Amino acid sequence: MTTHFYTSSSLDGFIATDEHSLDWLLTQDVDQDGPMAYTGFERNIGALAMGSSTYEWVMRHEEGRWGYTQPTWVFTHRELDLPAGADVRLTQDDVRTVHSRMVEAAGGKDLWVVGGGDLAGQFADAGVLDEVWVQYAPVTLGSGAPLLPRRLDLELLEVARNRNFLCGRYRVARDGQA
Ligand SMILES: NC(=O)c1ccc[n+]([C@@H]2O[C@H](COP(=O)([O-])OP(=O)(O)OC[C@H]3O[C@@H](n4cnc5c(N)ncnc54)[C@H](OP(=O)(O)O)[C@@H]3O)[C@@H](O)[C@H]2O)c1
Repeated sequence: MTTHFYTSSSLDGFIATDEHSLDWLLTQDVDQDGPMAYTGFERNIGALAMGSSTYEWVMRHEEGRWGYTQPTWVFTHRELDLPAGADVRLTQDDVRTVHSRMVEAAGGKDLWVVGGGDLAGQFADAGVLDEVWVQYAPVTLGSGAPLLPRRLDLELLEVARNRNFLCGRYRVARDGQA
Protein backbone atom coordinates (compact mmCIF):
# COMPACT_ATOMS: atom_id res chain seq x y z
CA MET A 1 0.00 0.00 0.00
CA THR A 2 1.48 3.29 -1.15
CA THR A 3 0.35 6.84 -0.36
CA HIS A 4 0.73 9.15 -3.38
CA PHE A 5 0.53 12.87 -3.93
CA TYR A 6 -0.45 12.94 -7.63
CA THR A 7 -0.90 16.38 -9.17
CA SER A 8 -0.26 18.68 -12.09
CA SER A 9 1.83 21.80 -11.67
CA SER A 10 3.00 24.86 -13.53
CA LEU A 11 6.70 24.83 -14.35
CA ASP A 12 7.31 27.28 -11.49
CA GLY A 13 5.65 25.08 -8.89
CA PHE A 14 2.04 26.20 -8.53
CA ILE A 15 -0.98 23.89 -8.74
CA ALA A 16 -3.61 26.65 -9.08
CA THR A 17 -3.65 30.41 -9.55
CA ASP A 18 -4.20 32.75 -6.60
CA GLU A 19 -7.91 32.71 -7.57
CA HIS A 20 -7.95 28.85 -7.53
CA SER A 21 -8.26 28.70 -11.31
CA LEU A 22 -7.06 25.66 -13.29
CA ASP A 23 -7.82 27.17 -16.73
CA TRP A 24 -4.08 27.14 -17.57
CA LEU A 25 -4.12 23.36 -16.99
CA LEU A 26 -7.41 22.25 -18.49
CA THR A 27 -6.52 23.71 -21.89
CA GLN A 28 -3.37 21.54 -22.18
CA ASP A 29 -3.13 18.50 -24.44
CA VAL A 30 -2.78 15.22 -22.52
CA ASP A 31 -3.45 11.58 -23.34
CA GLN A 32 -5.49 10.37 -20.34
CA ASP A 33 -4.54 6.78 -21.20
CA GLY A 34 -0.89 7.66 -21.88
CA PRO A 35 2.28 7.52 -19.76
CA MET A 36 1.77 8.32 -16.07
CA ALA A 37 -1.74 9.61 -16.82
CA TYR A 38 -4.79 9.69 -14.61
CA THR A 39 -6.63 6.62 -15.93
CA GLY A 40 -3.85 4.18 -15.06
CA PHE A 41 -3.04 5.93 -11.78
CA GLU A 42 -6.61 6.04 -10.50
CA ARG A 43 -7.26 2.34 -11.19
CA ASN A 44 -5.39 1.27 -8.04
CA ILE A 45 -6.62 4.02 -5.71
CA GLY A 46 -8.81 2.93 -2.79
CA ALA A 47 -9.22 6.16 -0.77
CA LEU A 48 -8.72 9.91 -1.22
CA ALA A 49 -7.81 12.87 0.97
CA MET A 50 -8.07 16.55 0.03
CA GLY A 51 -8.17 20.00 1.58
CA SER A 52 -11.24 22.18 1.49
CA SER A 53 -10.10 24.46 -1.38
CA THR A 54 -9.58 21.44 -3.60
CA TYR A 55 -12.94 19.99 -2.54
CA GLU A 56 -14.70 23.30 -3.25
CA TRP A 57 -13.00 23.50 -6.67
CA VAL A 58 -14.19 19.97 -7.55
CA MET A 59 -17.73 20.80 -6.44
CA ARG A 60 -17.77 24.05 -8.48
CA HIS A 61 -16.19 22.44 -11.51
CA GLU A 62 -18.48 19.40 -11.50
CA GLU A 63 -21.54 21.55 -10.65
CA GLY A 64 -22.24 19.60 -7.45
CA ARG A 65 -21.81 16.14 -8.97
CA TRP A 66 -19.23 13.92 -7.29
CA GLY A 67 -17.04 11.97 -9.70
CA TYR A 68 -15.12 9.74 -7.28
CA THR A 69 -16.30 6.33 -6.11
CA GLN A 70 -13.61 5.89 -3.43
CA PRO A 71 -14.11 6.89 0.23
CA THR A 72 -12.89 10.48 0.59
CA TRP A 73 -11.73 12.55 3.58
CA VAL A 74 -11.98 16.35 3.25
CA PHE A 75 -9.84 18.29 5.72
CA THR A 76 -11.64 21.42 6.92
CA HIS A 77 -12.54 23.38 10.05
CA ARG A 78 -15.86 24.35 8.45
CA GLU A 79 -19.24 22.67 7.91
CA LEU A 80 -19.31 22.24 4.13
CA ASP A 81 -22.21 20.84 2.12
CA LEU A 82 -21.65 17.23 1.05
CA PRO A 83 -22.71 15.73 -2.29
CA ALA A 84 -25.79 13.50 -1.87
CA GLY A 85 -25.06 9.78 -1.80
CA ALA A 86 -21.27 10.20 -2.02
CA ASP A 87 -18.79 8.54 0.34
CA VAL A 88 -17.30 11.82 1.59
CA ARG A 89 -16.63 12.91 5.17
CA LEU A 90 -15.27 16.12 6.66
CA THR A 91 -12.42 15.86 9.15
CA GLN A 92 -10.09 17.94 11.25
CA ASP A 93 -8.53 14.93 12.91
CA ASP A 94 -4.82 14.28 13.10
CA VAL A 95 -3.35 13.30 9.70
CA ARG A 96 -1.94 10.01 11.08
CA THR A 97 -5.37 9.01 12.41
CA VAL A 98 -7.04 9.84 9.10
CA HIS A 99 -4.33 7.98 7.21
CA SER A 100 -5.02 4.83 9.28
CA ARG A 101 -8.75 5.11 8.50
CA MET A 102 -7.94 5.53 4.81
CA VAL A 103 -5.76 2.40 4.85
CA GLU A 104 -8.62 0.43 6.44
CA ALA A 105 -11.15 1.75 3.90
CA ALA A 106 -8.94 1.22 0.84
CA GLY A 107 -9.13 -2.60 0.89
CA GLY A 108 -5.44 -3.07 0.04
CA LYS A 109 -5.39 -0.43 -2.69
CA ASP A 110 -3.23 2.71 -2.67
CA LEU A 111 -4.11 6.13 -1.21
CA TRP A 112 -4.21 9.46 -3.06
CA VAL A 113 -3.61 12.82 -1.45
CA VAL A 114 -5.29 14.95 -4.13
CA GLY A 115 -4.05 18.30 -2.77
CA GLY A 116 -3.33 20.97 -1.97
CA GLY A 117 0.38 21.08 -1.53
CA ASP A 118 0.38 21.89 2.17
CA LEU A 119 -1.89 18.94 2.94
CA ALA A 120 0.55 16.69 1.06
CA GLY A 121 3.24 18.32 3.23
CA GLN A 122 1.27 17.44 6.37
CA PHE A 123 1.19 13.79 5.23
CA ALA A 124 4.97 14.00 4.68
CA ASP A 125 5.43 15.60 8.13
CA ALA A 126 3.49 12.65 9.60
CA GLY A 127 5.83 10.22 7.79
CA VAL A 128 3.05 8.67 5.70
CA LEU A 129 3.68 10.14 2.22
CA ASP A 130 5.49 7.64 -0.03
CA GLU A 131 5.43 9.05 -3.57
CA VAL A 132 5.03 12.38 -5.36
CA TRP A 133 3.89 12.36 -9.01
CA VAL A 134 4.00 15.69 -10.85
CA GLN A 135 2.80 16.45 -14.37
CA TYR A 136 4.48 19.74 -15.31
CA ALA A 137 2.49 21.90 -17.76
CA PRO A 138 4.45 24.24 -20.07
CA VAL A 139 3.21 27.33 -18.22
CA THR A 140 4.56 29.64 -15.52
CA LEU A 141 2.09 31.38 -13.22
CA GLY A 142 4.32 33.60 -11.09
CA SER A 143 2.25 32.96 -7.98
CA GLY A 144 -0.55 30.71 -6.76
CA ALA A 145 -1.19 27.63 -4.61
CA PRO A 146 2.19 25.99 -3.94
CA LEU A 147 3.06 22.50 -5.17
CA LEU A 148 4.65 21.21 -1.94
CA PRO A 149 5.79 23.90 0.50
CA ARG A 150 8.27 21.77 2.49
CA ARG A 151 11.94 20.85 2.44
CA LEU A 152 11.87 17.20 1.34
CA ASP A 153 14.49 14.96 -0.24
CA LEU A 154 13.11 12.88 -3.10
CA GLU A 155 14.42 10.10 -5.28
CA LEU A 156 13.50 10.28 -8.97
CA LEU A 157 11.91 6.93 -9.90
CA GLU A 158 10.42 7.53 -13.34
CA VAL A 159 10.12 10.18 -16.05
CA ALA A 160 7.87 10.38 -19.10
CA ARG A 161 6.52 12.79 -21.67
CA ASN A 162 2.75 12.83 -22.07
CA ARG A 163 2.02 15.25 -24.97
CA ASN A 164 2.40 18.75 -23.38
CA PHE A 165 3.46 17.41 -19.99
CA LEU A 166 6.80 16.52 -18.43
CA CYS A 167 5.94 13.84 -15.86
CA GLY A 168 8.01 12.73 -12.89
CA ARG A 169 7.46 10.17 -10.17
CA TYR A 170 9.50 10.51 -6.98
CA ARG A 171 9.93 8.54 -3.77
CA VAL A 172 9.90 10.53 -0.53
CA ALA A 173 13.07 9.85 1.44
CA ARG A 174 12.50 8.99 5.11
CA ASP A 175 14.93 9.16 8.05
CA GLY A 176 17.58 10.73 5.85
CA GLN A 177 17.55 7.74 3.46
CA ALA A 178 17.39 8.75 -0.23
N1 LIG B 1 -3.06 21.16 -10.43
C1 LIG B 1 -3.70 20.15 -9.91
O1 LIG B 1 -3.70 19.03 -10.43
C2 LIG B 1 -4.40 20.34 -8.59
C3 LIG B 1 -4.54 19.25 -7.72
C4 LIG B 1 -5.16 19.47 -6.50
C5 LIG B 1 -5.62 20.73 -6.17
N2 LIG B 1 -5.49 21.75 -7.05
C6 LIG B 1 -5.97 23.11 -6.73
O2 LIG B 1 -4.99 23.68 -5.88
C7 LIG B 1 -5.61 24.55 -4.94
C8 LIG B 1 -5.16 24.10 -3.55
O3 LIG B 1 -5.66 24.98 -2.61
P1 LIG B 1 -4.96 25.16 -1.18
O4 LIG B 1 -3.51 25.42 -1.34
O5 LIG B 1 -5.79 26.16 -0.45
O6 LIG B 1 -5.04 23.74 -0.48
P2 LIG B 1 -6.24 22.74 0.00
O7 LIG B 1 -5.52 21.66 0.75
O8 LIG B 1 -7.09 22.33 -1.12
O9 LIG B 1 -7.12 23.58 1.02
C9 LIG B 1 -6.54 24.16 2.17
C10 LIG B 1 -7.58 24.26 3.26
O10 LIG B 1 -7.94 22.96 3.75
C11 LIG B 1 -8.20 23.05 5.16
N3 LIG B 1 -7.20 22.22 5.85
C12 LIG B 1 -5.92 21.93 5.45
N4 LIG B 1 -5.30 21.14 6.35
C13 LIG B 1 -6.19 20.94 7.35
C14 LIG B 1 -6.14 20.19 8.57
N5 LIG B 1 -5.03 19.52 8.96
N6 LIG B 1 -7.25 20.17 9.35
C15 LIG B 1 -8.38 20.82 8.97
N7 LIG B 1 -8.47 21.55 7.84
C16 LIG B 1 -7.40 21.61 7.04
C17 LIG B 1 -8.09 24.53 5.54
O11 LIG B 1 -9.33 25.18 5.24
P3 LIG B 1 -10.62 25.39 6.19
O12 LIG B 1 -10.32 24.81 7.52
O13 LIG B 1 -10.83 26.86 6.20
O14 LIG B 1 -11.73 24.70 5.45
C18 LIG B 1 -7.10 25.03 4.50
O15 LIG B 1 -7.17 26.41 4.28
C19 LIG B 1 -7.10 24.45 -5.19
O16 LIG B 1 -7.52 25.52 -6.02
C20 LIG B 1 -7.27 23.14 -5.97
O17 LIG B 1 -8.40 23.15 -6.82
C21 LIG B 1 -4.87 21.57 -8.23
